[in-house]
Amino acid sequence: MNKILDELENRRREAKQGGGQARIDAQHKKGKLTARERVEVLVDPGSFEEFDMFVSHRCNDFGLDKDSYPGDGVITGWATINGQIIYLFSQDFTVFGGSLSETNAQKICKVMDMAVQNGAPIIGLNDSGGARIQEGVASLGGYAEVFKRNILASGVVPQISVIMGPCAGGAVYSPAMTDFIFMVRGSSYMFVTGPDVVKTVTNESVTAEDLGGAVTHTTKSSVADMAFDNDILALREVRRLLEYLPASNRAGTISKKVYDDPERIEVSLDNLIPTDAGVAYDIKELIIKLADENDFLEIQPDFARNIIIGFIRLGGSSIGVVANQPKILAGCLDVDSSRKAARFVRFCDAFNIPILTLVDVPGFLPGTHQEYGGIIKHGAKLLFAYGEATVPKVTVITRKAYGGAYDVMSSKHLRGDINYAWPTAEIAVMGAKGAVEIIYKSDLSDKKKIEGHAKQYEERFSNPFIAAEKGYIDEVIMPRSTRKRLVRAFKSLEGKKQVNPWKKHDNIPL
Ligand code: HXC
Repeated sequence: MNKILDELENRRREAKQGGGQARIDAQHKKGKLTARERVEVLVDPGSFEEFDMFVSHRCNDFGLDKDSYPGDGVITGWATINGQIIYLFSQDFTVFGGSLSETNAQKICKVMDMAVQNGAPIIGLNDSGGARIQEGVASLGGYAEVFKRNILASGVVPQISVIMGPCAGGAVYSPAMTDFIFMVRGSSYMFVTGPDVVKTVTNESVTAEDLGGAVTHTTKSSVADMAFDNDILALREVRRLLEYLPASNRAGTISKKVYDDPERIEVSLDNLIPTDAGVAYDIKELIIKLADENDFLEIQPDFARNIIIGFIRLGGSSIGVVANQPKILAGCLDVDSSRKAARFVRFCDAFNIPILTLVDVPGFLPGTHQEYGGIIKHGAKLLFAYGEATVPKVTVITRKAYGGAYDVMSSKHLRGDINYAWPTAEIAVMGAKGAVEIIYKSDLSDKKKIEGHAKQYEERFSNPFIAAEKGYIDEVIMPRSTRKRLVRAFKSLEGKKQVNPWKKHDNIPL
């Protein structure tokens, strides 16, 4: 009997060695944790239950019949994070570079299926050279099986990817279909083809960092949401993100005990808006002052900074925030900010997370660059996302709400549930100067007359009251009491039920 027990222990010990000490040392030398160490940092202590520890590959080609490791290069199982069940896989770079084999894919698919069936998030820690080259089409098939599950799980359970090493080829397409991608600066890369292939095909010389590093993907391509300095910081942020997310689309709204007065008054907000309409301010100050315990988890902080997205809690409930940022490009909507916000709105809607929209937007950014880049289609994404969303939607217009951007930013007309405006709000087709230059073209040479028209236009439209008279704004509120009003507003919407007409799926302008 003891012999059998010993055998189990020995086999476990062997499996935990992955590709061996030399490769583990090499991993550490690059500043990376091993696949197992990452799991330990990510989950609640002692909560990890491993599956398929002894699974190994079935390939006999290219010498693989003599080269096999228990677990086959990926660690899978379930655990808890902040007490909530999650499923995970962690690719082990020390075994064939974390490459995906047929059996390795089957292990990943097993936990993905369990996550969907049991309604729990799935987290992938990616560190992989892509398809296992020795296995040929079997590994490609394995990838497609994983992709299929990413697609079917989308909108059902939250899917989070952490990129923690070189991810090439198929290794990037699975994360690309997940909800959030975190990367590690200096040690993680994502590219369809690496620098050598790029050089051969296009003759461009580019480093791996520039081609697909964390900075590139969080500032230029927007493939990834956040970049961190090391594995530990990235994994800790996953724990923080999960606090805001429901386990699945079947779970109700997610809330947490908080120690902040829901009626808290913020007198300083009365002076947030500068008296000069041309002067910018930081909308993040408003978000932080509104949030429970001033805690704001910003998503994609380094991309399209003219719009801010992220999570806060109000009265304990998780809320998705979308806010124009007047500090950057005057908070206008452009291709990048529209895409960024639209995807976030759809994520929140899929997972029943109510949406708070803070509006200070002068309109869409004009110009050939935007038009050639397809601002019409991309702007329509945000319009579409807000219009189709059935979660509770509360909007606050702090200053400008001009033109089409007024409509887009969760207006009443797009089924905004409760739409507030501050007394400083200006709800109009455009700013006074632009407006009078169009409607009083014949007076353009007379500066005095134009100034008079502009003043008249401002008096008429540079306020929230016309919109309030029409019922497009439910209430004009004091800035200082915004938090209190929002907590009450979202509370009143907790029972909201709204159903869109039956359809197979919509055709959002992609
Ligand atoms: C099998 C692999 C492997 C792979 C790496 N290894 N990638 N084994 N299949 N895809 C092995 C290496 O042989 C080596 O084994 C160990 O992993 C570490 O690799 P190194 O090259 O020494 O490490 P490093 O210098 O850090 O470079 C990492 C790397 C590089 C950038 C990932 O290995 C690389 O370019 N690999 C190939 C990437 C690729 O082209 N993959 C196929 C993509 S096609 P030893 O025994 O020495 O430790 C694809 C198709 C799917 O994925 C498409 C679906 C849409």
